[in-house]
Amino acid sequence: PGSGPLAGKHILVTAGPTHEPIDPVRYIANRSSGKQGFEIASALVDLGARVTLVAGPVALPTPPRVNRIDVETAREMAAAVEAALPADAAVMVAAVADWRSADTSDQKIKKRGAAPSLTLAENPDILATLAQNARRPQLLIGFAAETERVVEHATAKRTRKGADWIVANDVSGDVMGGDANTVHLVTASGVESWERLPKPDVARRLAQRIADAL
Ligand code: C5P
Repeated sequence: PGSGPLAGKHILVTAGPTHEPIDPVRYIANRSSGKQGFEIASALVDLGARVTLVAGPVALPTPPRVNRIDVETAREMAAAVEAALPADAAVMVAAVADWRSADTSDQKIKKRGAAPSLTLAENPDILATLAQNARRPQLLIGFAAETERVVEHATAKRTRKGADWIVANDVSGDVMGGDANTVHLVTASGVESWERLPKPDVARRLAQRIADAL
């Protein structure tokens, strides 16, 4: 058990991409290194929280004292999130694939004849589902990666998904896989734009805000 402002609190973090198999060797994924989510998990532990980190496939070491649950697909991530409840707060940083292949092949699809066509099925929205859950965390935080009209889209997303806060990042530059992030914190009371910061600093500042709110 940690000490610090978040001692006694359980916080759930999702991070990384999900991989949606097409066949045993191919998948659909979003671009995500997992760095920002792992930094947030680490910063929350540093403030004394018990942290469950549900991670998609990433090449990152587990931060000290973080309870990590590895998953592959969006549906596995949704199940792991549900299984980790109750939580006082949830920070949904994962770049979940919106669609999966409607049918997956047990064997590698051979490259002969015409290119196969892919039928997609919609994945569950883990954040929106958690917002409707009877055990919804008291503080529910979503992320929004946007390339244009960042704050406008994030503000709409906050209401649409039923989140308390949206951390919007402008991914038009070199944020993806990079070490710095420019974010806007969108809450019910307005928008706070943070200067461009290294991802660990974004994590520390967000963790402190979470501690203030809980
Ligand atoms: O709609 P969009 O993907 O931009 O929303 C991003 C936010 O929603 C992030 O917090 C992400 O983790 C979450 N999300 C989710 N499940 C999905 C899609 C997004 O939890 N299927």
